[in-house]
Amino acid sequence: MYAITISQYGDESNLIREDGIPIPEPKSNQVLIKVKASSVNPIDLMKRKGYGKVIFEKQRKKTFPWILGSDFSGSIEKVGSKVSNFNIGDQVWGCTSNANSGTHSEYVCIDIDEVTIKPNNISHLEAASLPYVALTTWSALVRWSGLRPQDLNKKKVFIQGGAGGVGCFSIQLFKSMDCEVAVTCSKKNYDLVTSLGADQVIDYNEDNFYEVLKDFDIAYDLLGDNVLENSVDKCCSILKPNSKSHYITLTHPLVNTLDSKGLLLGAPHAYFLRQKQRKKYQPININWSIYRPSLSGLEQLSYLVQEGSIKPVIDSVYSLNDLAAAHQKVSTGHISGKVVLDHPEK
Ligand SMILES: NC(=O)c1ccc[n+]([C@@H]2O[C@H](COP(=O)([O-])OP(=O)(O)OC[C@H]3O[C@@H](n4cnc5c(N)ncnc54)[C@H](OP(=O)(O)O)[C@@H]3O)[C@@H](O)[C@H]2O)c1
Repeated sequence: MYAITISQYGDESNLIREDGIPIPEPKSNQVLIKVKASSVNPIDLMKRKGYGKVIFEKQRKKTFPWILGSDFSGSIEKVGSKVSNFNIGDQVWGCTSNANSGTHSEYVCIDIDEVTIKPNNISHLEAASLPYVALTTWSALVRWSGLRPQDLNKKKVFIQGGAGGVGCFSIQLFKSMDCEVAVTCSKKNYDLVTSLGADQVIDYNEDNFYEVLKDFDIAYDLLGDNVLENSVDKCCSILKPNSKSHYITLTHPLVNTLDSKGLLLGAPHAYFLRQKQRKKYQPININWSIYRPSLSGLEQLSYLVQEGSIKPVIDSVYSLNDLAAAHQKVSTGHISGKVVLDHPEK
């Protein structure tokens, strides 16, 4: 089979197509999928440059070559000996958290708790744009913040960075729960986020959201200090000062602290930083979020897509053979929706 691999950390030029790789054999609890489409997430660019080296190298059987990519949409080619809920030919989608199963390849083996039947009202290219960003938000709300749908109903939600992959999904999710949604983005994305349901759009080049918004219940900070100094301070300043308010950030320091302090000291150091921040902003809840797989989240996503509450938003489509160009596009930090990858037949 073919795949796009890296054999060292570095820039996009390290993404090389390899042919003649043996097709992997599914384990008893896995399915082998012929990938029709996948997508690029900012984490792929970070991993390519060596982010998370300490943890991801520990998880990999072989350090290099490494196949990146998390989202997939495709069809089942083979099922493992203990798999009874899938058949050959099923059209499926999902997202892998297995460092040995990158999806930027012709075939991939996926654990059965990371795959489900693809909604039939979207194409493979559209499907590949959603699982990672959706499950990121699912983890952020359900797993890390302990929020249930009934806790979110009709809440006032602010999203910092509403126009990218995570933002476009999250606006639609919050709107499906009757929330009032405010987002930041640049002028060029105003129409996009409005079409997804955003009630208030703040052009970050014109206005400071923390001078415009007040009395919010949730601040979902997708970009944090990457785009705004003291982002946590500014986001918390627009929240109601009570214990029902939540600041949720996707800028989780754990992987960085593991990289800088090692496996033994990295985790306690991240925990210490989190406790310190939690204390400072009491009574507001401070939640640091990191992607975690969830089959129930994936099933809920399938339902929301099938009923039309969530629509894929695609910035651009590249052939998987042009993965380097797709990485360059995502590296601009200003995409509208998702960059997806069309997998060639051969
Ligand atoms: N913790 C986790 O597990 C996890 C999981 C997924 C993603 N993430 C992180 O979450 C972030 C968002 O991911 P993504 O996939 O949505 O990224 P993305 O698709 O690359 O989108 C980035 C978006 O940021 C917007 N942006 C840039 N500068 C901004 C600013 N100053 N204020 C407001 N918006 C700004 C851009 O909109 P304009 O073009 O309008 O500027 C663009 O749409 C990334 O940093 C990613 O690494 C973390």
